[in-house]
Amino acid sequence: TLTTVRGVIDVDLPGPRINRHIYGHFAEHLGRCIYDGFFVGEDSPIPNEQGIRLDVVEALRAVAIPNLRWPGGCFADEYHWRDGIGPREQRPRMVNSHWGDVVEDNSFGTHEFMQLCEMLGTEPYVSVNVGSGTVRAASEWAEYLTRDDDSPMASLRRANGRDKPWSVRFWGLGNEPWGCGGGMRPEQYAEQARTFGTYSRDHGSNKLYRIAAGGNDDNYRWTEVLMKALGRKLGGDIAAEGDNTFQAISFHHYTLSGSSWSQKGSATEFDVDNYYWTMAKAVDVERILAGHARVMDVYDPDKTIGLVLDEWGTWFDVEPGTNPGFLFQQNTLRDALVAGLHFDAFHRHADRLVMANLAQTVNVLQAMLLTDGEALVRTPTYHVFAMNRDHQDAESLSLRFTTPAPVHRVAATDLPTVTGSASRTADRMLISLTNLHADEAAEVELDLRGATPGEPVATVLTADALNAHNTPQNPDAVRPRPLPGVTVADGVLRVPLPPHAFVTVAVPVG
Ligand code: AHR
Repeated sequence: TLTTVRGVIDVDLPGPRINRHIYGHFAEHLGRCIYDGFFVGEDSPIPNEQGIRLDVVEALRAVAIPNLRWPGGCFADEYHWRDGIGPREQRPRMVNSHWGDVVEDNSFGTHEFMQLCEMLGTEPYVSVNVGSGTVRAASEWAEYLTRDDDSPMASLRRANGRDKPWSVRFWGLGNEPWGCGGGMRPEQYAEQARTFGTYSRDHGSNKLYRIAAGGNDDNYRWTEVLMKALGRKLGGDIAAEGDNTFQAISFHHYTLSGSSWSQKGSATEFDVDNYYWTMAKAVDVERILAGHARVMDVYDPDKTIGLVLDEWGTWFDVEPGTNPGFLFQQNTLRDALVAGLHFDAFHRHADRLVMANLAQTVNVLQAMLLTDGEALVRTPTYHVFAMNRDHQDAESLSLRFTTPAPVHRVAATDLPTVTGSASRTADRMLISLTNLHADEAAEVELDLRGATPGEPVATVLTADALNAHNTPQNPDAVRPRPLPGVTVADGVLRVPLPPHAFVTVAVPVG
């Protein structure tokens, strides 16, 4: 028999706005993300504008990506931006020691990145080098990008062909300083963040939103040390009241399916137990998010400091035969469900979470897009971003289940197999539902209180197999389709959920 899971949405009691930037992205100089992914060079037979792949731009514009983080990742703390400007043939080369030990020719640099952001219609998120860079270099990069007079850096930018300054808001102060970004203790990094934050100046009307690099997973102590490094107004121990040299704190969380970093599991060859294990790891993001938010609440109850999850996604073993340093993995229906679960958690924590960035956009880890020569493949994860697009900037609604969902036991935890989240604008709501049960369908009944719902339009992303995925030969094996059988009667929405499926329902509301 079909399990019915009942719930309530108070449509007339909207919560915080879901910042569009939680649908953000991340592109590192890693494997084939930049080169071969975003950038093929002007001489490539693949259609491009100034070397930037047009099919990639078109696919990402269709899902309205709000920001793009660059140049890393670990790469950011070895990147010297002055090497990536000026005539390409004169740019110095470097070794990309983190990712494949390959030689980086710096042909994709500041101007190319800003051009890419303009083509995508997205906001740049620049990660500056704290680990091996200098305060002066970070300061000069901000001047180069955003200053509009005849200052030394503005003049250098003009000499390199760009007259007007760019607008840059998101400014990351290093990356994973506890690891690849310098092996620092939190107290040591907090001092660095204050110094780099101070000298990363606002020029003219450009206002930087400085993001301090946070701890890994549930390292709440790191977050606490950073909160204490803020101005006294927030309970920190720094002399000047209101003196906040960074405006947000980040953290990273990856979903692994294996037992350890050396055995992360295959992206495509997994059994049902491993599938549930992955789902349990994915929902764990909410515990971690809430943990960081709780620490921040102690110092900043008014939530003026943002929380940023600037790397999230699945991390599996690389595809057989590919460079282990390139982190290239396939992307299946399982990845799509992982993404849906993350967004549910993000929507529920919209009061504190201001940004999140999928790692990474093209050809690396949980990619949205895979390229193979001229071919471009939209992954199942891409379709979740597309289906959830209208949550961006909508108001979060609380979705409470009043009957328990079926559970699946994973290790010592009971994993609920039906989850969801919702948001609204003035005239419509969007509900996202996941049935992560591997083989049982379910039905969801939602009491839409405080609204007169119109005709629902439902879309489903599923496939016969949990490991179904898209390839150049079969690019639409996993794609969104209309979901029949969704009804509204007497204010109650009924949604049939196939097994292992992600569903969105758009409902006009009066
Ligand atoms: O996304 C790949 C790597 O994962 C990033 O470079 C680093 O920040 C993290 O460890």
